[in-house]
Amino acid sequence: MATEQMKTAEHELEMELAGLLDVERFDPPAEFKQGALLSDPAIYEEAEADWKGWWERQARELHWFKEWDQVLDDSNPPFYKWFTGGKLNISYNCLDRHVEAGRGDRIAFHWRGEEGDERDLTYADLLAEVQRFANAMKDLGIRKGDVVGIYLPMIPEVVIAMQACARIGAVHNVVFGGFSPESVRERMVFSDAKALITVDGAARKGKTAAVKQAVDEVMGDLASLEHIIVVRSKGTPCEMKPGRDVFYDEIMAAAAAECPCEEMDAEDPLYVLYTSGSTAKPKGVLHTTGGYLTGVSATHRYVFDLHPETDVYWCMADVGWVTGHSYIVYGPLCNGATSIMYEGAPDYPHKGIWWELVEHYKATIIYTAPTAIRACVKWGAEHPRKFDLSSLRLLGTVGEPINPKAWLWYHKVIGGERCPIVDTWWQTETGAIMITPLPGIVSTKPGSATRPFPGIKAEVVDEREGKPIAEGQGLLVLTRPWPSMLRTLFRDDERFVETYFRRFGKETYLVGDASRRDKDGYYWVIGRIDDVVNVSGHRLSTAEVESAIVAHEAVAEAAVIGQHDEDTGQSICAFVTLQGTQEGSPELEDGIRATVAERIGKFARPKRILWADDLPKTRSGKIMRRLLRDIAEGRALGDVTTLRDPAVMAALESQIRSEEANES
Ligand code: PRX
Repeated sequence: MATEQMKTAEHELEMELAGLLDVERFDPPAEFKQGALLSDPAIYEEAEADWKGWWERQARELHWFKEWDQVLDDSNPPFYKWFTGGKLNISYNCLDRHVEAGRGDRIAFHWRGEEGDERDLTYADLLAEVQRFANAMKDLGIRKGDVVGIYLPMIPEVVIAMQACARIGAVHNVVFGGFSPESVRERMVFSDAKALITVDGAARKGKTAAVKQAVDEVMGDLASLEHIIVVRSKGTPCEMKPGRDVFYDEIMAAAAAECPCEEMDAEDPLYVLYTSGSTAKPKGVLHTTGGYLTGVSATHRYVFDLHPETDVYWCMADVGWVTGHSYIVYGPLCNGATSIMYEGAPDYPHKGIWWELVEHYKATIIYTAPTAIRACVKWGAEHPRKFDLSSLRLLGTVGEPINPKAWLWYHKVIGGERCPIVDTWWQTETGAIMITPLPGIVSTKPGSATRPFPGIKAEVVDEREGKPIAEGQGLLVLTRPWPSMLRTLFRDDERFVETYFRRFGKETYLVGDASRRDKDGYYWVIGRIDDVVNVSGHRLSTAEVESAIVAHEAVAEAAVIGQHDEDTGQSICAFVTLQGTQEGSPELEDGIRATVAERIGKFARPKRILWADDLPKTRSGKIMRRLLRDIAEGRALGDVTTLRDPAVMAALESQIRSEEANES
């Protein structure tokens, strides 16, 4: 009976959502608009008329030990400098400033563990912990400019570690907990990290992963890594190497309580964050201090319409991605927000846990990824409907294009049709949100990130000459510097210029996405134009996955493509040529997936593996992924005349079709 009722309810919902598909735009609800920080569209023209002045006003919201001499130094593009001569400290802005203004008792984070354990940290608590940990790092000899790796799950110590680095001027390099220890090692080597902060064990859907032990297996001989600091989180046993490894709680107990902030130059590095590009070697995106904080705090305030006294804000991303850096840690703390931080997965201990937490903490703003919304759609509306979601007033998404059906479900089931949705487009490189609605001003269209944030200038240009296209599809570019832009790729200026500023010149940032602009000037981001695949909002390079696959002893060659996937947006499909006369088998598939998990992380495992005797290549030996995409998605093949051996395609196609026939 209950199941019957549920089926009827789901069916009714389907019908209602189908009815909404025809609605072209959703205006900001009157009630929302009334209380919004920004509700006058004139802000766009004002910012446009004097964009440097606009950013300067945003920078004035921060605390500076010394003001800047110049807002923007654009004398050497694309190496822009913002707020030159200015001195500030990010940790001071995020913590001390609030405590000094009498806001020390405000909750910074309601932390919730996977098994229901709770820990509330006020701004005063966080400041005390951060100062102590900053001193503990100094006691180990870590100094301004040193790189510190952070490989931690979603526990408060990750925020403490990042803030403590910012306090003493150490450059953090956070690696997402879903990456394998091998990936961590690679990132520590590339960034020449002096220390790594990690954990004994991490909770994962009721199990505990022995993180430190796994780290030791690959990191043992890394001489440049002088210290490993281990947070005791789950009590998982681990070995400690004398002279190198220390427990977090022990060094905290020995450290002094007060740690004054280092006065940082506006352009001093804050962090490096590795992300995927078109080669197998990840790119170390470098962000600096003054411009980054200006960008993330201004966007966090206005895009989420943050009222810090009353809002309870929850960014559901992992802190290991840029979304977590900018919108769990730096933006919200700088703005004095009260946030929720959740250690676990959205379906553990049950599929309604997110909504249970929204009810429990009375969340007013949530920010998540389309892939998570699609998973919730699949699990069914009965899970959120068990909880009171009436505290919510604003919803956000990020990471990939959102399909209108998921958007409408979010709008109706989660937002109760009263919450604006901000679909925010940006990247690791941009540091902060670039294209987004301002929720009290801009009408939204499901699937469009709408228009550039005030002060940001975007264009859609044609592929050949880079000429702006008023309406239609082309390449997305940003044609004006912005404060939170990456400054370079870590120790690789050449690759920085080559990747982003070669195609259309030194003043036009090439995003790497295709986009369409409609008659109202709204942007509809379509997806990547390079060899980057977006799986559940996780960015991966095809070359990176290929090189992991060929590490398997049975593999001779591999080509990876991103394939459309209903659940994850894109999924990884690998064409694999085996050594000698070996035949593909389910065991080999498992083995290849295990190799990828070990080299990169479980999230990079290919969903589909296709055995290929040979791969289509151009005369110069380049694999033609376009043709592989055609084959994988069952389309008619495009132009094959540039292939070295056109017969390869016919053979491959018949091989794959017969494999598909066998599978079904
Ligand atoms: O392709 C775009 C997609 O994610 C890419 C950036 O990935 P990453 O650096 O990992 O940062 C993700 C979180 C900021 C972009 O080049 N992307 C991000 N947001 C959107 C999006 N695509 C469409 N709509 C979005 N809102």
